[in-house]
Amino acid sequence: MRLVLLGTAAGGGFPQWDCACALCARAGEPGVPARSQDGLAVSADGTDWYLLNASPDLRVQVLATPALHPGPGPRDTPIRGVLLTDGELDHTLGLAILRGAPGLRVWAPGPVADAFPLRTVIDGYGEWDWRGVDAPVELGGGLEVTAAVISGKRPRYAASAPAGGWVVAYRIHDPATGGTVVYAPCLAEWPAALDGLLDGADVVLLDGTFWTADELPGAAGRAAAPGPGASTPMGHLPVDGPAGSLARIRERPGPRWVYTHLNNTNPLLDAGSTPRKQLAAAGATVLDDGTELRI
Ligand code: MLT
Ligand code: MN
Ligand code: ZN
Repeated sequence: MRLVLLGTAAGGGFPQWDCACALCARAGEPGVPARSQDGLAVSADGTDWYLLNASPDLRVQVLATPALHPGPGPRDTPIRGVLLTDGELDHTLGLAILRGAPGLRVWAPGPVADAFPLRTVIDGYGEWDWRGVDAPVELGGGLEVTAAVISGKRPRYAASAPAGGWVVAYRIHDPATGGTVVYAPCLAEWPAALDGLLDGADVVLLDGTFWTADELPGAAGRAAAPGPGASTPMGHLPVDGPAGSLARIRERPGPRWVYTHLNNTNPLLDAGSTPRKQLAAAGATVLDDGTELRI
């Protein structure tokens, strides 16, 4: 299986368009690469490709990834479908860029498929095939996908929508190579359902939005919609601290742990930072946009 990290930043990207903080000002310097918004591309055979999440940066991400370029026919594309982990705008606005793609399959958690406001707009451009993720999914090339609900965090546009399984993580297994990746870029806490996906995983891409819980100025006032998973700022489990995800990783050696969805406030963006050294000591890492892994 081939994995391409299309983007590794949280909503707004890095640098963020409206942020003049010291970190954003350094974006593009050595060791502080700019990052587009989180998303992944996977393929078993290099022919059929699937996107995990569709960020507003998708057009540039596709252009930067030769495997996703159109062809061989003039209007052919290797992109066969999109799997959404959640309905947040940084994970879904790229669907508008794909509008008109004939017959595109989109897998999404049920509440997301019901509430995503652009769906009615996009459905007017192409006959898309929206599917749920309650049952295992088989993708072209034989990839086996299992989803698990890991959070009830609702997008702010759906703050009054019913509680439910708004956020999933995906486990994708390639029976031909035995390779397994788990993708969990939106983690409000560490749920048992995530552990259920990790068995035998080679690579785990994990929510690295915040290094610390108090990192985002005014986070309390901008908290996620009430409901399960709203206990952490913006609904994201921080990496550091006794209850953070890095402590959980230390207890779970084996996979290659890769943090993604990094907010522009996160010191992990700087390869020379002390937090990056702590990450490396725990066996975890941060990779650049465009990195390809083969498992
Ligand atoms: C999130 O990951 O929590 C959202 O993308 C936040 C946002 O929409 O700004
Ligand atoms: Mn986000
Ligand atoms: Zn900034």
